[in-house]
Amino acid sequence: MAGFSRSPTELLCDDVSLSALAVAEGTPLYVYSAATIRDRFRALDRAFGDYPHAVHYALKANSTLALARLLREQGSAADANSIWEIDLALKAGFAPGAIVFTGVGKSPAELARAVPLGLKAINVESAGELARIEALASAAGRVARVAIRVNPDIDAKSHPHISTGLKINKFGVPLDEARALFATFRGRPALRLVALHVHVGSQITTTEPIAKAAALMAALVGELRALGITLEYVDLGGGLGISYEGQPVPTPDDYAAALLSAVRPLGLPIVIEPGRSVVGPAGALITRVIDVKPRTADSEFAVLDAGMTELMRPALYGAYHAIEPLTIRAGAERFYELVGPICESTDVVGRDRWLSPLEVGDALAIRDAGAYGSAMANNYNRHPLPAEVLVDNGAWRVIRRRQTIDDMTTMETL
Ligand SMILES: Cc1ncc(COP(=O)(O)O)c(C=O)c1O
Repeated sequence: MAGFSRSPTELLCDDVSLSALAVAEGTPLYVYSAATIRDRFRALDRAFGDYPHAVHYALKANSTLALARLLREQGSAADANSIWEIDLALKAGFAPGAIVFTGVGKSPAELARAVPLGLKAINVESAGELARIEALASAAGRVARVAIRVNPDIDAKSHPHISTGLKINKFGVPLDEARALFATFRGRPALRLVALHVHVGSQITTTEPIAKAAALMAALVGELRALGITLEYVDLGGGLGISYEGQPVPTPDDYAAALLSAVRPLGLPIVIEPGRSVVGPAGALITRVIDVKPRTADSEFAVLDAGMTELMRPALYGAYHAIEPLTIRAGAERFYELVGPICESTDVVGRDRWLSPLEVGDALAIRDAGAYGSAMANNYNRHPLPAEVLVDNGAWRVIRRRQTIDDMTTMETL
């Protein structure tokens, strides 16, 4: 069975025993289902039918090389958020013309390397950045392909820390300024405006903000046409949410219908940049209980070997992840605070959870950890980056080995 499922005795990933993987590779361990990634990519791609479109997987969600390559093999293009994500994309085999470069702060060094690459577009965040790209392109005798990232001042109704489309958020060019910029393109031979770009936020669970942003982009495309500027495509960003707590979320078909209803009348190709919705449910973080101790009269702490260093989302946004023991012990459920080993009180992976009884050494799966999990892992408290395993077609392989203290200190001097 594709994805995570339970046998009578334990939790499996694509029919492979997660307990066996935890023994073979140790914990904390990221485990991904290749079949789930393929299925989720294809469902999104198919939802747009024969309307011209390109899916640019957002590498920021998870840029482990093997996953980037797997998505490329499915026909995905890439959305990179730094020159180093571009380097990663090139290593994974994406052609420069299949990469869009987003990012609220692209340094001079990043732009100097990006401009000659011949990317599909550099998504521009300000008038100043546009001028810097123009100067670099002009000096190199090139024409830079750019998209203007518009800040539409739309509330994504997502968590404030992952909303990007309000005027008070740092992302994009405000509408009035974007309109003023459009008019300047005629006299700028080193620039070609190929697209408009918008991304209103992540983990969006209704189509309304996405549809609103798409409608606004469609209206702006009309304004550009009136100015005699014809675009190649419109880039509607990422943001489709996943069901972390079993709540309903739009299906790929709902999502595509919302975007297409705004854009179809233009006949302009669509680019989307999904991250979380492709890889989120395809990954679990496997962890072991390293201590159990009393907390309150009716609750206990279960201290895990994974915490905010391996999966930052709960500490960063108060994010919820379902957590379940790989093997369910008999006995009445108990009330746990599931905490990581890091020296911070905010290092709580799961608050107030009823679970079957836990003992030291038991392994648990932290579910829906494929996106913004390993990509945000860090070395705080000198925790090594966890190993990662890809399960594919009944077999599995290590796609990133566990970091060692020597890996960690190799850039340091005494
Ligand atoms: C510009 C841009 N595109 C795409 C994404 C991917 O979003 P998601 O993972 O929610 O699909 C993000 C993430 O915030 C983003 O900032």
